[in-house]
Amino acid sequence: MYIQNLNIYQFRNLSEVAMTLHPKLNLISGQNGSGKTSILEAIYFLSLGRSFRSAQLARIISHEKENFKLFSRFYNAKERTIASLRDKTGKSTIRLDGEEVSSQAELTRALPVQLFNPESFSLINSGAQQRCKLLDWGVFYHKKNFLNIWQQVKRLTKQRNAALKQNYPRNYIEILDRELVTKSEALDQARLDYFQMLMPKIQELLLLFSPQLQVEISYYRGWSQDKALLEVLIHSFQSDVKSGITSHGSHRADLRFKVNGHPAQDILSRGQQKILISAIKLAQGEIFSQEHQSGCIYLVDDLHSELDQAHLQKVFSKLVEIDAQIIATAINANHLLNLFLDKEHNRYQL
Ligand SMILES: Nc1ncnc2c1ncn2[C@@H]1O[C@H](COP(=O)(O)OP(=O)(O)OP(=O)(O)O)[C@@H](O)[C@H]1O
Ligand SMILES: [Mg+2]
Repeated sequence: MYIQNLNIYQFRNLSEVAMTLHPKLNLISGQNGSGKTSILEAIYFLSLGRSFRSAQLARIISHEKENFKLFSRFYNAKERTIASLRDKTGKSTIRLDGEEVSSQAELTRALPVQLFNPESFSLINSGAQQRCKLLDWGVFYHKKNFLNIWQQVKRLTKQRNAALKQNYPRNYIEILDRELVTKSEALDQARLDYFQMLMPKIQELLLLFSPQLQVEISYYRGWSQDKALLEVLIHSFQSDVKSGITSHGSHRADLRFKVNGHPAQDILSRGQQKILISAIKLAQGEIFSQEHQSGCIYLVDDLHSELDQAHLQKVFSKLVEIDAQIIATAINANHLLNLFLDKEHNRYQL
């Protein structure tokens, strides 16, 4: 799976960019503010319909312009195209292979991207929801109906919270609970199956990257391991009514990291966190390639900052080794060129 061509119009400071990408290795270089991250943001937007740095999409449109347009020709079992247009009022049109589509998930499935940026490296310090999203990236591609179950759990939890706040009769909430339990158990099973595949791969990569770094990784399903969710919901009913919030369930799931029994966020240095997140994202890429007979696309922004040369070399060599298209940025092309060794690649200077 790889992007062949990318065209960007009126997206941040990029008024018009046309790129031909190498199926394997691409290096974008340029000074601060030249638009390197914006190129990755444009690709991310094509896949996920959102930005990794602005919640308000109108901010992405070049100043004083009415809209932005993106186009990509890519290869995923066959040649495909995505065209996306979004204007200031929020109106958007997305076409996949020339046909208008309304579901972003179709694009996410068609163009799978995995992001390495400075923010993704602070995931260990962020909340449970963010860490669980990291796991869910993989579950989405691993389990066909994951998104559907996830959406149902989200809807039912929202409904239950509204019912708690409005003091609905207990038997009404119990009806919701039964459905919520069934869906949450299915979601938990999908996450657990994927986690069990992922774990040994992460540990293998960590051993390769940094043998002294011993991290215990566990998956918390959002409620006690030894109690059924229904039992937990019944038990916490009174406190849930008081707070108006469902305190247990799949929406509280987490990916937890410990070093010597202590939370990893209190122990690991920023560089070590980066190595850990790199190991997780690379392990996910490996599973993806195995399951789809083709790799995903890695958007790699500023990987070299905070990693010493030896660790950078190990992480980058692994990235290059796995079956994936890499689109990497660096202020100075030389920062990454020695890592590309003699491999064929495309270079784009902004
Ligand atoms: N809506 C917008 N319209 C025009 N320019 C914008 C808009 N939003 C951001 N910019 C500018 O576009 C540029 C985008 O920078 P970007 O973050 O892509 O640069 P970069 O090459 O990644 O820089 P760095 O090396 O500092 O990470 C910046 O100069 C920023 O000020
Ligand atoms: Mg940048």
